[in-house]
Amino acid sequence: MRILYLGDVVGDITLKVLKQNIKEIRSKTKANLIFANAENVSLGKGLTKEEYLTLQSLGISVLTMGNHTFSKKEIFSFINDSNIVRPANMPDAPGKGYLVVKYNDKTITIINLIGRVYTNILADCPFKTLDKILKDVKSDYYIVDFHAEATSEKQALAYYFKDRIDAVVGTHTHVQTADERLIGKTLYITDLGMCGPYDSIIGDDVDSILERFITGIYKPSKVASGNIIISGAILDLTNKKIERFKEIFYGKN
Ligand SMILES: [Fe+2]
Ligand SMILES: [Fe+2]
Repeated sequence: MRILYLGDVVGDITLKVLKQNIKEIRSKTKANLIFANAENVSLGKGLTKEEYLTLQSLGISVLTMGNHTFSKKEIFSFINDSNIVRPANMPDAPGKGYLVVKYNDKTITIINLIGRVYTNILADCPFKTLDKILKDVKSDYYIVDFHAEATSEKQALAYYFKDRIDAVVGTHTHVQTADERLIGKTLYITDLGMCGPYDSIIGDDVDSILERFITGIYKPSKVASGNIIISGAILDLTNKKIERFKEIFYGKN
């Protein structure tokens, strides 16, 4: 079974490019299922209902989130009845921390966790949270989107759960890492990278971010434009192989 897992989707401009190219991406990667991190779709922060429905219409069957899950308030009205998975170690937030999907006769449990190092999020322990989920939920496959900043925290989670889960994919930094490998029997990559404007600073307009760094004055930034990089990884759960995916598409403004 092949799953294409796309990293953080940034902005409506990227949704358009996905719309135009998803068929080609699906056939090129031979993906049976496509999952994505969707915490940055709405102007770089959050997800609206319309955007959620667009992602669904593209056949992206599970959407995991992160620190921007609740940045657009309208998500409170539809998250409970959706294929959105928010961090499981925020158990008192609306929505769910994992989702079980079926493909042919197999069940796949997708779990979202958020890191506690450099993320400024008051979340429960991701390790203990996942231990509990694995005890409670029986499934053929388990895939974790660990939305975290620190490489060490992501590697630590993979080592702690190696052989017990099928894949740990990192998200949040928006930059794809070249360290895809097996840790025990667990497929691993520190970060999938983003789906978003290539000529940008992690998806945002370069000038506005530069101004923030040079002057120290905070100004809200906006999503950049131009060509779009689509990044992720193909998880071959049957053959225990992980392969990076990265392609740049022309994006119209
Ligand atoms: Fe992100
Ligand atoms: Fe994030």
